[in-house]
Amino acid sequence: MDRRNFLLGTGVFLGLLGLGCPAEAKDDKDKKKQKKAEKPKQPPLPFVPGSWTVVILPDIQNYATRYPGLLRLQTRWIVNHKDERRIVYVLQNGDLTNNNKKFEWQRVDREFKTLDGVVPYAVVPGNHDYPKCAKAGRNTGLNDYFPPSRFESWPTFGGTMEPGHIENNFHLFEAGGRKWVIVGLEWGPRDTTLEWADGILKKYADRTAIVFTHAYLYCDNTRLDWAKKGTKQRGNPHAYGTAGGVNDGEEIWQKLIKKHANVFLMMNGHIQGDGLGFQVSETDRGTLVNEMAVDYQRQEIGGAAWLRLLEFLPDGRTVQARTYSPLYEEYKTDPENQFVFELY
Ligand SMILES: [Fe+2]
Repeated sequence: MDRRNFLLGTGVFLGLLGLGCPAEAKDDKDKKKQKKAEKPKQPPLPFVPGSWTVVILPDIQNYATRYPGLLRLQTRWIVNHKDERRIVYVLQNGDLTNNNKKFEWQRVDREFKTLDGVVPYAVVPGNHDYPKCAKAGRNTGLNDYFPPSRFESWPTFGGTMEPGHIENNFHLFEAGGRKWVIVGLEWGPRDTTLEWADGILKKYADRTAIVFTHAYLYCDNTRLDWAKKGTKQRGNPHAYGTAGGVNDGEEIWQKLIKKHANVFLMMNGHIQGDGLGFQVSETDRGTLVNEMAVDYQRQEIGGAAWLRLLEFLPDGRTVQARTYSPLYEEYKTDPENQFVFELY
């Protein structure tokens, strides 16, 4: 098997393992536990000097409600390791709050202030950041606490789809000898949002792109697909009755991602089971897109401050995905939490 086919098969392999999805039978779970116990623990991959890092803050909603100290640990770790790890961007993949409540936004706002002016970040709303979990419209508190004006003075901030609304935003930076564009999309992006993102990806076709939104890939390592899988995949945006219509993972892929040769990574949170997924897909242009889901909210103490670190190695091609908790001061080293993929 050549390297390209191997990469395209990576997701299939993880899918066959069926890691951590709700539909999984108890017997399978027991077998998996046994297998895991038999496996010798892998050591953490070392940080390679000269690498630069993008940090993902996966679904922080439980910290906003119950464990704000864990979000504080995460943001302080980022600031304290900014220079050593060359952290160039932080991405928060939605559900900053559990119930779009003022006290939650105030807590999240306070902890993100630690990052303001120190490390740039991008945020998108998740379903929990809207009134009644997105059923009562798209008027999110995110715009009260993270309005575009909070970002506008940053040299890396590109802009938003609509004035006064941060839900759909883009950022521009350079790292590792490349120019990059980050595009953040609202929960269940509307058709108009995908049209806007299409324009941004075309305009910056000379830049390598990272796109992220709250719901895209499921824990079975396939895209959320209402038309084919309906409620078998829990958490599909079509199940929420969100105002203005929505697109799920498969629709975002068909209408946006697969048309663009410059998308290197499509990332999301939100999903059920172990909250993790990864696959590699081929675009219409013959390029490969890494699709990654990461969400620890269902783990102990609301997520235990687990961070996903994307370390871009000095070879300009290799990316190490690692998972670290500043609470435990430990790395997760199983294959879903520590793996290597490629920048093409
Ligand atoms: Fe969510």
